[in-house]
Formats: sequence, structure tokens, C-alpha cells
Amino acid sequence: MSTPSSLPEHIAIIMDGNGRWAKERGLPRRDGHRAGAESVREAVEACKELGVSYLTLYAFSSENWRRPKTEIDALMLLLDRFLVDKLDELDRQNVRLHTIGQIDRLPPKNQKRLAGAKAKTANNTGVNLILALSYGAREELTEATRLIAEKVKTGELAPGEINTETLSQHLHTAAFPDPDLLIRTSGELRLSNFLLWQLSYAEIVVTKRYWPDFKKADLLAAIEEYSRRHRRFGGL
Ligand code: FPP
Repeated sequence: MSTPSSLPEHIAIIMDGNGRWAKERGLPRRDGHRAGAESVREAVEACKELGVSYLTLYAFSSENWRRPKTEIDALMLLLDRFLVDKLDELDRQNVRLHTIGQIDRLPPKNQKRLAGAKAKTANNTGVNLILALSYGAREELTEATRLIAEKVKTGELAPGEINTETLSQHLHTAAFPDPDLLIRTSGELRLSNFLLWQLSYAEIVVTKRYWPDFKKADLLAAIEEYSRRHRRFGGL
């Protein structure tokens, strides 16, 4: 795969359209999610080939808890299967797994599997794959505010010392650079409570493709769009 001239260090993706993909084929929604998991595998591989260091995927939002229990169960099972089936491959590819979101709300089985996968890949130095699970930016910002308030209360921090860096350091993403590029599939023009603080300066690329149809060539096209915009601004 040829590398575009300016590469984002961190790509974040709102993976949307699994349900519509399935509906168009007369399939149950869970088949759309299953096909979406294959696109996840391909996106990680493409990031490795291109040299993208961070990939954050919106796999389950705080709002997704409002979906029918059968769909939530299917998504949790899919996540579990993904980790069972793909962990060795991810590890071989030098991928390091991270999570953001309220992981303690996930079923214990998923929590255990995620902890195991994170531990197994902890020393890997290739792509950092960050799964946003039970994630909501407003919840994350509220939690950060609470943590900061506690520190002020105990005297560890003075109100006058609080700056943007303080807030960044109390988010789930404290260890990662902000995304340079946000991709949303299936055409919707919304942020949907995803990384509201961290996306402040990100370039946004929206594609009409449903997530299960989003392949390496589509990722490359989004990066090329990012490079074009980046070159223009960089040249001023
Ligand atoms: C949005 O499609 C997608 C999700 C809510 C879940 C994303 C999950 C996956 C891609 C599969 C598993 C992920 C991993 C990490 C193994 P939608 O259901 O909102 O689609 P619709 O808007 O067309 O109904």
C-alpha cells in the first residue's frame, strides 16, 4: 500500500451503518455487526501497513445501553469472540490494546477478557488499538471534573492551577495524543458524544459507505483527503 504524503498519527472512527448494511440484505442486525468486526480487523491491519500509531474505534457508546437486550448481548458476544479469535494475530502484528469508557459497566466476562488482552499486548510497540466501550464524552468529562474537584478539596491542586492540560490529563485518553483525523461511516454528520474534547482540532471525513463495507482502500482515501487538507494548511 503506498503511503500518503502526510500521515495522521491518530485516527478515530465512528463505525456506523452495521444495522442498515444488514437490513439491505434482509439479514438480522447481528450479522451486520459481525461483518463490521471483519472491517475492524482490516482497519487495524491497514494502520499497521501505513504506520499509523493510534486507532480509536467507537465500538459501544454509553447510549448503546438503550438498545434491546438481545442486541447488546450479541455485541458483547461478538467482542468476546473477536478477542478470542484475533488476539494472537493482533499480538503477532505488534498491536497494543487499550480501552476507554466505563469498562466496569460491561459484563464481567468481557471485562476479564479485555484485561487479559491488554496484559498480553502491554509490551507491544506497533499500532495502539483503543476500543471505546461504554464510552460517552460527556460522562468522561464529568468524571474528570469530579476527579479534579476531589484534588482541589484535598489541597493537592489549587483552582488557579487548573488549565487545559489538567483536564486532558484526567480523561481516559490521557496517555494518547489527540486524534488528527475523525472518520464517520454511513453518512451521518454528527459527533454522537465521541471524544468531544479530544477532537477539537481533528479533520473530519465522512463517507457514505456502511462500516461493514469500509475496506483498506476507503481508509486510504480518507487519509489522502486528510493529507490534501493538511498540505494546503501547512503551505500557508
Ligand atoms: C453502529 O452501527 C455500530 C455499533 C453500535 C457497534 C460497532 C461494533 C462493531 C463494528 C462490531 C464489533 C466491534 C469490535 C471491536 C469487535 P448501527 O448498529 O448503529 O447501524 P445503523 O445505524 O445502520 O443501525
